[in-house]
Amino acid sequence: MLKERVLKALNEQINAEQYSAFLYLSMSAWFEDKGMPGFANWMYVQYQEELTHANKIFKYVIERSGKAELKAIDQMPVEFDSVMQIAQMTLEHEQHVTALINAILDIAVEERDHATQSFLQWFVDEQVEEEANVTAILDTLKLIDGKGNGLFMLDRELKQRIFVDATQSA
Ligand code: FEO
Repeated sequence: MLKERVLKALNEQINAEQYSAFLYLSMSAWFEDKGMPGFANWMYVQYQEELTHANKIFKYVIERSGKAELKAIDQMPVEFDSVMQIAQMTLEHEQHVTALINAILDIAVEERDHATQSFLQWFVDEQVEEEANVTAILDTLKLIDGKGNGLFMLDRELKQRIFVDATQSA
């Protein structure tokens, strides 16, 4: 049985992961509208990944005999300034999510919930990958100044990304 504080934090994280999903879906829609299918694909893959993160926590709560409670998802932005701004915003958002995961882990440690600590380790590792992933794209964007032929090439490269459900192999 999950302690009340741990359950509350996990339920809030389900909401945070769902918000992340729809933030990225909104960014994907913006890229589609601007004629950048590769960047739109990147964000659509991110959207799918975030849904699996939410579902992984949802299933864990139930497995531990807790009640998963879904909450309203905040309105995400629908307008953006540029590719660079979206990449920067994505990095900052992932850093925020990392802080949220670390905070739940702290609660699990305080509550001596070893199972939840073990469960959260997957998310700790995943966040390292997520931050590195977007940082690499942001670095390339800075190199090409977010425009021109370089942007076209990067868009083509990002079109190749495919969704892999990493939660299934964990
Ligand atoms: Fe589920 Fe991108 O953090």
